[in-house]
Amino acid sequence: MSKNRVLVSALAASLACSAISVQAAEGWRNPKLSPDERARLLDAELTPDERIGLLHGPMALSFPGGPPIPEGSVGGAGFIPGVPRLGIPALKETDASLGITNPGEVRPGDVATALPASLALAASFNPKLAYEGGAMIGREAAVRGFNVLLAGGVNLARDPRNGRNFEYLGEDPLLAGLLGGESIRGIQDQNIISTVKHFSLNGQETGRFYANSVIGEAAHRESDLLAFQIAIEKGQPGSVMCAYNLVNGAYSCGNDHLLNGVLKGDWGYKGWVMSDWGAVHATDYALKGLDQQSGEQLDQQVWFGELLKQASVAGTVPAARLSDMSRRILRSMFVAGLFDGKPSKPQIDAAAHAAIAKSVADEGIVLLANKGVLPLAAGKKVVVIGNQADAGVLSGAGSSQVTGIGGNARVVPIGGDGPMAMWGRQVFHASSPLKALRAAMPGATITFADGRYPAEAAAAAKAADIAIVFATQWMAEAVDAYDLSLPQGQDELIRAVTAANPNNIVVLQTGGPVLMPWLDQAGAVVSAWYSGQKGGEAIADVLTGKTNPSGRLPVTFPASLDQYPRRDLPGWGLPKKQQFDVVYDEGADVGYRRFAALGMKPLFPFGHGLSYTTFAYDKLRVKGGDTLTVSFQVTNTGKLAGKDAPQVYLTGAGGQKLQRLIGFDKVDLKPGESRTVTVKADPRLLANFDEAGRQWRVAGGTYQVTVGASAESVTLSGQAKVSKQTLKP
Ligand code: BGC
Repeated sequence: MSKNRVLVSALAASLACSAISVQAAEGWRNPKLSPDERARLLDAELTPDERIGLLHGPMALSFPGGPPIPEGSVGGAGFIPGVPRLGIPALKETDASLGITNPGEVRPGDVATALPASLALAASFNPKLAYEGGAMIGREAAVRGFNVLLAGGVNLARDPRNGRNFEYLGEDPLLAGLLGGESIRGIQDQNIISTVKHFSLNGQETGRFYANSVIGEAAHRESDLLAFQIAIEKGQPGSVMCAYNLVNGAYSCGNDHLLNGVLKGDWGYKGWVMSDWGAVHATDYALKGLDQQSGEQLDQQVWFGELLKQASVAGTVPAARLSDMSRRILRSMFVAGLFDGKPSKPQIDAAAHAAIAKSVADEGIVLLANKGVLPLAAGKKVVVIGNQADAGVLSGAGSSQVTGIGGNARVVPIGGDGPMAMWGRQVFHASSPLKALRAAMPGATITFADGRYPAEAAAAAKAADIAIVFATQWMAEAVDAYDLSLPQGQDELIRAVTAANPNNIVVLQTGGPVLMPWLDQAGAVVSAWYSGQKGGEAIADVLTGKTNPSGRLPVTFPASLDQYPRRDLPGWGLPKKQQFDVVYDEGADVGYRRFAALGMKPLFPFGHGLSYTTFAYDKLRVKGGDTLTVSFQVTNTGKLAGKDAPQVYLTGAGGQKLQRLIGFDKVDLKPGESRTVTVKADPRLLANFDEAGRQWRVAGGTYQVTVGASAESVTLSGQAKVSKQTLKP
């Protein structure tokens, strides 16, 4: 080697060396290293006490007579102190999927954009809106100094009485998983960590701390777990929140199979598992896969504090596992960019945020029935009846309750006592349908009747050209609906009004399906769910035709409660603290899948929703192979512009008869316009889960598909050959 070349290579070697030593000196601070590596290096610098400190924390709320909210927290759902010595920021956690909450007015006077219920978002069948809504609440979290959003509820609506169905995304794993994933992606794009919750089978609120959800492994994988799996793949949430209930005999937050086996094992999930608030019952949950105890005042003990430290000293929880727990948390914090520079406070454009809430409501409202009464004709005498429609629109209650911008228009206490009494309030967002209708129909005379007396309301309806009756079903965390009737005798009111005037419209504001014993008499029925802080305007726009309705049911509306596998609510009336089973006999056949399997006729099927225009589908092409690729053309054949949500269902798989949504799209078409929609099925939807082999198994053979406007309507059908294959779990 020449002298020069020796010098050059010595210089190169020394440069490389110094680069390595700079990297080593920078250690976890080096943004070029992977989040895994940074988390590993940072964890190695923690003292045992610092590490334990990351693994548990309180609510950031103050109770009468109790200590103030923890120093350094932002008042809200939760707080995990950071490690200032190392620049590890605290985790500042807020609820939830519908907007930034302000529990107990912990931040006096703070209001935030209130999105419609997640069920309304699901009814939009529009992943883009899910992303925008997520990004919106992410920005509103960031501006308040939060860095964790307890959002991403994807539990399937297995029971229409579930008090939290409004926080979730309906009964189908693909719809819930995709929309949940998009909403999480929107949140996390704002450098906010999101959860996905409540893992898993948190299917009812009655006895939620004692309910043992019983289900077969394959059925679980093909339904609720698939919704979580898709949401996690799409959204990559930094954290998964385990649930209150037990699953197959073990509490969700101490469920080795679910957390270590499925989530971290089969799915390779790299984030952390946080508990729900009050869902931890032992320190050894650390061995079962739980990484962090949240809201610890609600548990009997701070299991993941001093007790976990003792377990670690005694060696019952290995040091390596403690490091794994903190590394998972730190990794998600690195991924979210919580270390790299000061968190930026975004500019909030309140009007733009309100417009997002309005778009979700616009696309989430479902026109269920219409005998030509809608859209409303101008210049009429209209009476609006009942349920605070003069003031605002109803919202669902519990930890997801948002105080919308403009404040609460009205709060109607429900009554009751105990710790959950604070949630017993019907909150109406300040978006009055009456005012919005008056603004939208300047030529009409619009009066209001409170609807207390059905006969009086009927008289008012008779004297008007058009009667619009508002009905509400208030739903809340911690309580289920007893049945599917409209509470407080509202069916009687609707019966009287619809009998008095055939030009009537029933506007439902519910947290899920309800029965409609008056349906034959109804001129039109609109399902507005909980429509958020712009709900009044959105309802008025749908009624007057400014918005062409495009919502589709994300849940089946049954003809009777007898069409569900559990006639009586499991656990109802049992003494407190008594465990009971909720046996999910229907397995993976949740909602419309079971209606199809048993040939039952619902009141309104999953996917149903009318428009003021008409759509036609043709030119179906079904391509097989490893999966199904289905394309077809949608044409707006009516006279008005409108959005459609065509749906593709698998109806036969290698000889097996079934029904599964395998794809959908939301298309916006002018009159006469056509669009080709192409849907490529997630092969897991063509498969069955093979429990013994711990894999998905596509049987192979001829697979049938239909294209239609709901789970019941078949406009096109076709088939193709799919190859036999197995897929990783
Ligand atoms: C709920 C969670 C929520 C948590 C924090 C619990 O009661 O189940 O969904 O995120 O409280 O408020």
